[in-house]
Amino acid sequence: MLNKLLFHRFPNIKSLLTRLQYEFLSTLNLKRDVLFMNFGYTAHHEGHEPIPLHPDDESHRYPLQLYHHVAKHVSWENAEALEVSSGRGGGAHFIMRHFKPKSYTGVDFSARAIEFCRSHFNLDGLKFQRGNAEALAFPDNSFDIVVNVEASLYYPNIKKFFGHVKRVLKPGGHFVYTDLRYTEKIEEWHALIKSTGLKLIKAEDITDNVLKAMELDRERRIHLVNTYIPAILRKQFLHFAGIAPDSPSALPHLENRRYWYFVLQKS
Ligand SMILES: C[S@@+](CC[C@H](N)C(=O)[O-])C[C@H]1O[C@@H](n2cnc3c(N)ncnc32)[C@H](O)[C@@H]1O
Repeated sequence: MLNKLLFHRFPNIKSLLTRLQYEFLSTLNLKRDVLFMNFGYTAHHEGHEPIPLHPDDESHRYPLQLYHHVAKHVSWENAEALEVSSGRGGGAHFIMRHFKPKSYTGVDFSARAIEFCRSHFNLDGLKFQRGNAEALAFPDNSFDIVVNVEASLYYPNIKKFFGHVKRVLKPGGHFVYTDLRYTEKIEEWHALIKSTGLKLIKAEDITDNVLKAMELDRERRIHLVNTYIPAILRKQFLHFAGIAPDSPSALPHLENRRYWYFVLQKS
């Protein structure tokens, strides 16, 4: 309830608190146990084969599958790509290895997350730099693809972000975008996306796929919270991770939010 009130009425405060939460996370020595900070995705309960993964990636299967789903609808051949809010870099590293773009630049607000990425991922063409989604410091028409995964809900002024995405994309370039919103805000959000002037190629409600992934990944997430988060903050972080802290057997939740995936193109 408090979360919802902050999101709707005081987006700047919510954004500040969330940034503090991510900065706090990056002060912990999470090592390579935490390379992703999204709720995950699965489709194999719908009859799709799980994607084959390198054994080192297996423990990150569900959050990694969200990146796979987001990335698989566009061509990466020779692409210069930008990810806004790349977090701890697991998605950037996966896309670079799996889809093999020419270059991939990850940008995040958190200086510590950028430091972590720079010291853990070393691939030709993969770069990380600190930056703000609402003030992207790149020239016009410089990227073929812009990626954004579960982060725009924290931006106080999403219109500024969309404006920069449109500006930095080359003509014909794609914006692959996924995030969640409270049910009553979905219509407004979709209208905002349409008003960017980017052409909508695909819009898909993936809430059920995300909830199923959270269910399958539940034990690992609880283990991470119990391992790394001080006892006094665990309840808050379990909630943050979509796990109902008061009832260990309860199904995961997204607090009445729906998760959507979009592909847009600059004309
Ligand atoms: C839920 S995490 C998702 C990270 C990554 N996309 C993933 O899926 O693992 C949200 C990320 O957004 C970043 N973030 C929040 N506000 C930002 C802003 N204004 N500019 C850039 N990054 C921001 C946070 O630092 C955090 O790394």
